[in-house]
Amino acid sequence: MKLRTKFGLLVSSLVVIIVLGVTVTLLIAESRFLVKEMETARYNMVKSLAQVAGESVIVRDDILLLNYIKLIKNTKGLAYAAVTDLSGKVLAHTDINLLGTKLADPVTSKTLSSDALFSQKYEMQGPVAVLDLSLPFIVSGKKTGVARLGFSQKELDKAVAETLSATRKRIFMVAVAALVAGLIATLILVGMMTSPIKKIAAGAQVIGSGKLDHKIDVTTRDELGDLATEFNRMSVKLKELDQLKSDFVSSVTHELRSPLVSLKMYIDLFFKGTAGTPNDKQKEYLDIMKSCTTRLAKFIDDLLDVAKIERGKMQVNPQRTELPPIFKEIAQLFEPQMQQKKISFEVAADKLPEVMADPERTRQVIINLLSNAVKFTPEAGKITLSAARKSSEKAVEVAVSDTGMGIPADKLNSVFDKFEQVKDVKSKVQGPKGTGLGLAIVKGIVEAQNGKITVQSELGKGSRFAFTLPTA
Ligand SMILES: Nc1ncnc2c1ncn2[C@@H]1O[C@H](COP(=O)(O)OP(=O)(O)OP(=O)(O)O)[C@@H](O)[C@H]1O
Ligand SMILES: [Mg+2]
Repeated sequence: MKLRTKFGLLVSSLVVIIVLGVTVTLLIAESRFLVKEMETARYNMVKSLAQVAGESVIVRDDILLLNYIKLIKNTKGLAYAAVTDLSGKVLAHTDINLLGTKLADPVTSKTLSSDALFSQKYEMQGPVAVLDLSLPFIVSGKKTGVARLGFSQKELDKAVAETLSATRKRIFMVAVAALVAGLIATLILVGMMTSPIKKIAAGAQVIGSGKLDHKIDVTTRDELGDLATEFNRMSVKLKELDQLKSDFVSSVTHELRSPLVSLKMYIDLFFKGTAGTPNDKQKEYLDIMKSCTTRLAKFIDDLLDVAKIERGKMQVNPQRTELPPIFKEIAQLFEPQMQQKKISFEVAADKLPEVMADPERTRQVIINLLSNAVKFTPEAGKITLSAARKSSEKAVEVAVSDTGMGIPADKLNSVFDKFEQVKDVKSKVQGPKGTGLGLAIVKGIVEAQNGKITVQSELGKGSRFAFTLPTA
């Protein structure tokens, strides 16, 4: 069943239950009120009759009483109205044939013996069920007679039923109107609720089908609006991931393909036979082949390192380590490249405390930073590898500074993401372009050694990458 139908059914049944509940309660209350009201009207009538009877005795004017009886005679449902004295003698009656006669039936006896309002039901000749209501009247402080009204029970019930049915009709009409209004409101509400859900579902389907640029257009400021925003954010993220995947594939293919092509070319050359090729040329070919295999091996190692970092499995083996010997060794390693690019290379690391670090991984970090510096610094630039104690943090800060092309401010954070390379910068580089894994590995290793890595850079002026190592 569709959400719209489910929701509509639920809310409309709620509306029906509420309207029915209110209707039934109203009907019960109304019928009770009606019965009570009619009872009060009857009481007031007998009270008035008793009053008129009392007055007519005082002023000795029977006509007054007879006229009054005549007046009320035609009241709906009234079977009779009578006034008797204490012996039961009829002083006034709607049936004038009874005037002056003496009533001695049990109903009359009961009315005579009561001192207050008295009501009794009995079967009158006919047979007619009658409700007899009597009230004694007092003259000069003495009970003088009894005023009596007899109501046909059938007529009374009919009056109640008629009034109730009119009321019931009114209430029913109001209930139907409330029900219709409730159902219309429900439909509108359900529409308001489900249309954004539909839009989100349709949008998710479009995004799922691969159109990652799709934006779900739900702007309501509620949970559904939030959900749509999250979906849109997710599609942006998916697009980024998709881009990352493409970058990865193109990096990997390029990084694998170019050394493999070179290798194949030189292997073919050797297969054709090298007779006639001078020895130093052959050595040059072998050197190129060696550097190709080194590049391939480095790429695979980098991929494995990134995978380890991402799974939190980057193994470091921290131990008391002296940094200057590592610096010296790395400086020797880079000497040829620096000379080739006429870069002035300076190493500044005096009086350093020992650090707690994995020597091999630390070497890898510095080599990565230095190879970036060499790669992104044009000829005749300057590169400095320095280290200084940071007493505030109980750490040593190692920094690699260059006077290279620098990094745009908006890329300063993302350069540590895998496969992230600044496009303009990359295009100016000669030789292998790399894959954008170096800094991701550097950051992973530094953080696994409880250090922090920072970068400062100004476009066109140079960069400074610095990382900390805890002192031993
Ligand atoms: N010293 C630097 N000067 C200018 N840009 C730099 C420097 N170091 C890094 N970058 C920028 O950061 C990007 C990421 O560096 P990273 O070392 O992760 O990758 P890479 O050097 O391009 O490739 P890889 O290290 O995998 O061979 C570089 O492509 C470059 O745009
Ligand atoms: Mg690099």
